[in-house]
Amino acid sequence: MTDGTSVSASVLTAGAASTGVNNMFTGSISELQRRLKAQQYVADRGLAVSLFLALRLRRPLFLEGEAGVGKTSLASATAAALGTDLIRLQCYDGLDISHAVYEWDYARQLLELRILEAAHALDRDTARRELYSEPFLIKRPLLQAIDPARTQPAVLLIDEIDRADEEFEGYLLELLAEFQITIPELGTVRAVEPPLVVLTSNRTREVHDALKRRCLYQWIDYPTLDTELAIVTARVPHASVRLAEQVAAVVHELRGMELYKVPGVSETLDWVAALAALETETLDVDAVEQTLGVVLKTKEDLDMLRGQGIGGLLERARMRGSGL
Ligand SMILES: Nc1ncnc2c1ncn2[C@@H]1O[C@H](COP(=O)(O)OP(=O)(O)OP(=O)(O)O)[C@@H](O)[C@H]1O
Ligand SMILES: [Mg+2]
Repeated sequence: MTDGTSVSASVLTAGAASTGVNNMFTGSISELQRRLKAQQYVADRGLAVSLFLALRLRRPLFLEGEAGVGKTSLASATAAALGTDLIRLQCYDGLDISHAVYEWDYARQLLELRILEAAHALDRDTARRELYSEPFLIKRPLLQAIDPARTQPAVLLIDEIDRADEEFEGYLLELLAEFQITIPELGTVRAVEPPLVVLTSNRTREVHDALKRRCLYQWIDYPTLDTELAIVTARVPHASVRLAEQVAAVVHELRGMELYKVPGVSETLDWVAALAALETETLDVDAVEQTLGVVLKTKEDLDMLRGQGIGGLLERARMRGSGL
């Protein structure tokens, strides 16, 4: 059994240093774009500048945007591009400290207590120190991200913060300001290498100003036609360019229509992959009809499009795409 005092000490070693010694990225904005591209992520200049500043200024990056525009995948691409860990916290209603930060491993503590009892080694103070020491601590994402044992800053993704309740947001404020967490039985854990924090929101509710104020804010819009084509080429390289151009143009056309569920980049990628799997070279009315469920996800949208005519949609997309 490890000595409780020394374990606590190792958890707390980082107390003095909080500024971080490792720069996560020292290159230029274009270099950052290139590195993301190597991870099949296409970041336009505005997004790359925000990410660059978040890294340089060590500020959290708050990403908002419609579904499927690449918020979550920016965090994973960044971690891969920088060669560091991605630690992900998926938010949901009712998310609490025991799932987000830490909890004690009660089952192991109980077992250890039995062993100590059986060995008649039960001195109350020692037992408490041993049972509330690091080996019995289950580290959840936020604690993992500020673990002082980390030698390289991680990317901490706090995904869909708008799904968590406001109480949790309040807790985050503290963490983001200090990069430290106090565990009553153990002491204060402070990051030596603070992570790059990426928060995402789908705007199902407004996130509190106090949280946004601590972050750099970036709205991710649907990509331009050129960018979406670059994304498709990067992600589905085996599809023909002609097909990719047509699909991107049709999806852009769809986004301009009054739909219940507007297709995101994920739908574009799925659609190109589906058509390529069917060995489709060019998009015609039959091909669209057979695969429409990959891109439109409600009966109302399907009915509306079929009612208006797929031929018309393809024609409008052709005009749009000819500008490529
Ligand atoms: N700029 C991009 N470059 C490369 N791939 C992208 C880009 N944007 C989106 N994608 C791809 O589209 C899909 C959806 O992206 P992602 O899950 O990151 O979107 P999101 O904004 O987090 O969506 P949601 O709000 O539904 O969680 C992923 O497969 C992702 O790789
Ligand atoms: Mg997401």
